[in-house]
Amino acid sequence: MLPLLLSTLLFATPLLASPVSPRQTTRQYIVHNQCPAAVNLYIAGAFDSTIPQGGNVTKFLSTGAGFWYTDANLGTPTAEGTAKAGFLDDFYYIVTDPTYINAGISVAPRDRPAVDGFCPKIECDSRDCANAFTQPPTRFPSPSNIAPTPPYYRCPYSNTTYDITFCPTGVFPPLTTTLHPDYTVQKCIDVRGAVFANGTPVQIYDCNGTPAQNWVLTRGGTKVQLAGTNFCLDAGSSPANGVGLKIWQCYDNLPAQQWYYTLDNRIALEAKGFCTDLPNGNQANANQLQTWQCTDNNQNQVWTI
Ligand SMILES: *[C@@H]1O[C@H](CO)[C@@H](O)[C@H](O)[C@H]1NC(C)=O
Ligand SMILES: *[C@@H]1O[C@H](CO)[C@@H](O)[C@H](O)[C@H]1NC(C)=O
Repeated sequence: MLPLLLSTLLFATPLLASPVSPRQTTRQYIVHNQCPAAVNLYIAGAFDSTIPQGGNVTKFLSTGAGFWYTDANLGTPTAEGTAKAGFLDDFYYIVTDPTYINAGISVAPRDRPAVDGFCPKIECDSRDCANAFTQPPTRFPSPSNIAPTPPYYRCPYSNTTYDITFCPTGVFPPLTTTLHPDYTVQKCIDVRGAVFANGTPVQIYDCNGTPAQNWVLTRGGTKVQLAGTNFCLDAGSSPANGVGLKIWQCYDNLPAQQWYYTLDNRIALEAKGFCTDLPNGNQANANQLQTWQCTDNNQNQVWTI
């Protein structure tokens, strides 16, 4: 009777309703932050602590402690828009939000051999990664001698320590997106006339769903690249107040293309004090963007996704 009861319990445990299982114990988790900023750690919907960039936090918690995630980079305290790590007994797994992922995450059992599908390190760096759930699982397979089918993972050793890492790639996940002036969703950053060539002005225009308005960037240090092309937002070699922005062939480590997309939605030239700016805040079609000294509370310098 007992094995049947156990497997029934495991199979039917709803994860969000504080799972309780006969084998639940306390174990060690070490949470690392490799994101390009300090991040807040949340566990089971509650704020735990702020982890500095490059830092870590050690927790001793139950084997079914609920989801581990961060609200950094437009994630939320309620876990919407986040990638999250879950644990139940010796199962571990990742859940992503299919519409938005704020920060990649990895989970690795420490000091346990990865053998026959058991105990592998798992990692998810984009919203469509293959080895993650898109909804929290409500049922778990019965533990057996065969490793469970991903995205379920299992490490069947007692008292395993887990390393959980935010941003294992060192950056926030790239966004492919339109960029709007200060939350005005019907206006977009646009390449004038869709002429993809060195020197074409970058302007504001009605959003129209064309490739001339589709950009790839990350939070933190980033290029601002026109998706599917090798052209980047470029500030020229002498950025100053009033200098018009353009696209130019992308280069690595070119100061004119090294931007920093801040968490408060400014696109600033890295270490230069100049921001991407909408002249006079004028959202009329064809107004060319410029560099301007970054100033606090300047709505002309806010670019939202
Ligand atoms: C955690 O961070 C401290 C420094 O704050 C470092 O000395 C230690 O090695 C780190 N531990 C792990 C497990 O990474
Ligand atoms: C479990 O592992 C932790 C960390 O290695 C250790 O501090 C603790 O004593 C262990 N508990 C048991 C019951 O072995």
